[in-house]
Amino acid sequence: MARTPSSPCVLALGEPLLEFNAAAEGELEDSAVFHLGFGGDTSNMVIAARRSGASAGYLTRIGDDAFGRSLLALWRREGVDTTHVVREPGGATGLYFVTRHGEGKHSFTYRRAGSPASRLCPADVPEHAVAGARLLHLSGITQAIGTSACDAAFHAVDVARANGTLVSYDPNYRPALWPPERARAVILHTAGLADLVLPNLEEGRLLTGLDDPHDVLEAFARRGPSLVALKMGADGVLLREGGRTTRVPAHPVTPVDATGAGDTFDGAFAARLLDGDSPVEAARYAVIAAALTTTGPGAVGPIPRREEVRAAAGRPGGESPSPKP
Ligand SMILES: Nc1ncnc2c1ncn2[C@@H]1O[C@H](COP(=O)(O)OP(=O)(O)OP(=O)(O)O)[C@@H](O)[C@H]1O
Ligand SMILES: [Mg+2]
Repeated sequence: MARTPSSPCVLALGEPLLEFNAAAEGELEDSAVFHLGFGGDTSNMVIAARRSGASAGYLTRIGDDAFGRSLLALWRREGVDTTHVVREPGGATGLYFVTRHGEGKHSFTYRRAGSPASRLCPADVPEHAVAGARLLHLSGITQAIGTSACDAAFHAVDVARANGTLVSYDPNYRPALWPPERARAVILHTAGLADLVLPNLEEGRLLTGLDDPHDVLEAFARRGPSLVALKMGADGVLLREGGRTTRVPAHPVTPVDATGAGDTFDGAFAARLLDGDSPVEAARYAVIAAALTTTGPGAVGPIPRREEVRAAAGRPGGESPSPKP
């Protein structure tokens, strides 16, 4: 199948969610005021890729409810192609609540069981679009939300691999969504089918049973992806490429809310790689994008655009700009 100039470069497959972020610290049952936002790891990734200059499209199922409509409006505002978003009559689009408990600690409460995205199936995968894209992104969450969604993920990976579309994979292991044995088997198998694998250290430890970050990195690399980026929060990223390991330090910021930092890294990294950066250059850019996204509340709002990342990269010490007098 031929790559066409109209295909978005980056396609992501997964579940988008509405976000209800509590305005004040405290338990969910004590929270009265919420800020409405957007989330869902692969939707965050595709928006991050778009804001970093890549053309991008999203593959999912949503309901024909108000939440589905507001997600469609979000992607259209962002210039994310929605041609292949399936709208399910009567479907209830998934959502989650975020509560804060001081010192940057968050709790998430999800209402996503039985969501339209959990019913994604192989027939929803637009084979021409996947074949025409340069990179397909998916995550362990895409596979955990439903059996047919997991089948859709594997089908999309097959089509990508058969057509030279790079496969980017973020394990995003969420123990609440699936049993550990199944999660481990599916995630490690998929890591072996991907070109880019983007775990964080905590899930990497749980999935490999190893402790040292270099050992975790090596365990993923041995499965065959050409690039592994191990995300380590404020400790930055360990990048493994062709047998070489590079530590990319974090960009120093004062974080407010780290929701979506990993997804922003994934999207910014993909956008820069596709634009011709070396993996190390792309990772240096992506750690700045990811750090900036922690400086504001919510997953999507603070995802930075290319100019903001470039401006932050140029500031000595990587500090945020001083407020205008
Ligand atoms: N406190 C921080 N200071 C600076 N950079 C940060 C901070 N937290 C996260 N980052 C940046 O964001 C990247 C991804 O964050 P993290 O390691 O938390 O990923 P993650 O756990 O996959 O995130 P997510 O919650 O989106 O799944 C880090 O590698 C780092 O570059
Ligand atoms: Mg993550």
